Amino acid sequence: MGKGKVVLAYSGGLDTSICIPLLKEHYGYDEVITVVVDVGQPAKEIEEAAKKGERIADRHYTVNVQEKFVKEHIFPAIKANGSYEGYPMGTALARPLIAEEIVAIAKNEGATAIAHGCTGRGNDQLRFDFIFRTHGFEVIAPIREMNLTREWEIDYAREHEIPVPVRKEKPWSIDENFWSRSIEGGKLEDPAYHPPEEIYAWTAPLKDTPNEPELVSVGFENGVPVSLDGARMEGAELIRTLNAVAGRHGVGRNDMMEDRILGLKARENYEHPAATVILAAHHDLERLVLTRAELSFKGIVDEKWSELAYMGLIHEPLYAALNAFIDTTQERVTGTVDCMILKGGVHVVGRSAPMALYSDDLVSFDSKTLDQCDAVGVSKYFGMQARLLRQIKKE
Ligand code: ARG
Repeated sequence: MGKGKVVLAYSGGLDTSICIPLLKEHYGYDEVITVVVDVGQPAKEIEEAAKKGERIADRHYTVNVQEKFVKEHIFPAIKANGSYEGYPMGTALARPLIAEEIVAIAKNEGATAIAHGCTGRGNDQLRFDFIFRTHGFEVIAPIREMNLTREWEIDYAREHEIPVPVRKEKPWSIDENFWSRSIEGGKLEDPAYHPPEEIYAWTAPLKDTPNEPELVSVGFENGVPVSLDGARMEGAELIRTLNAVAGRHGVGRNDMMEDRILGLKARENYEHPAATVILAAHHDLERLVLTRAELSFKGIVDEKWSELAYMGLIHEPLYAALNAFIDTTQERVTGTVDCMILKGGVHVVGRSAPMALYSDDLVSFDSKTLDQCDAVGVSKYFGMQARLLRQIKKE
């Protein structure tokens, strides 16, 4: 009699595949249940992982949570202008949802432990562990705990009739959902190495993008995108469509040094065309409808929100509190933003909103509504303390 059931967060790759026999032989579990969670990875990747899981594991689940991912994780990120060190987060947004889906299955199956194939260097181990532990599960991370080398993994896989992917086919580690695509590892680990064009799949190189600009009109309701060029769309469809349009123009690439949670610096490459357009449009619309006080305070809130989201700490009570504040501000973020995209750039060229805090009658050079002489009184008090101090110093 072994240790019963363990549920494994499965991707179909070598690391998570060898975890299946390891969890039995090395850790003493009787049954290994694999779970693939579909947050918009390429369909082929999901299919292959499912096939492999069904063959190697005792039981396999594939759960499609694409719309849930959009509504519960991408939309809040849009409302919060979510970005980390200057790029729109993607992997970080998906991990908590993937983990929650795995927890639900683990509870149903009566498993006591959950396993993942993360290494001990990255962010995902912490994001996963946090959710699994929150729900009281023991966490098993064979790759992190056993310090395995790739040669050992390959030999072990062959012994267990697990197909080994050819290294040449996958020189990078790619993580993809429809908000963002991330490429890291291999030669890219040298920060001085120039990334070859082939790492990108969603964005065209600038030399091949159209010379003519394209106009996209993004409609928002309560802070989230609901239409493109006037046509209403569900979140996932809208993001996919915009990825294609903006990607054609080479919008949304990042090549950067990133500070991981543990403090390690890592070279990361990203592409996120739709995210770049939507976030630019959303922030612009906020500038039309929110007060100066709201905007400056929300900047701090957005930053804090992004920090928690990056770490995957969605059960931190502050996360809910920040979301509550953000949701209140978004009640007025309804309107349309026209974006011109050209040669990798997104330029907002027009915006309108029913609740715009804007009056051309007040601000216009041609208007007589506002008596300019009133400003003279304000001017007399403006910066008074600073002026007074200078005078005192002189005397
Ligand atoms: N650095 C990013 C993060 O931690 C993305 C990592 C994606 N992983 C990958 N193997 N490409 O959120």
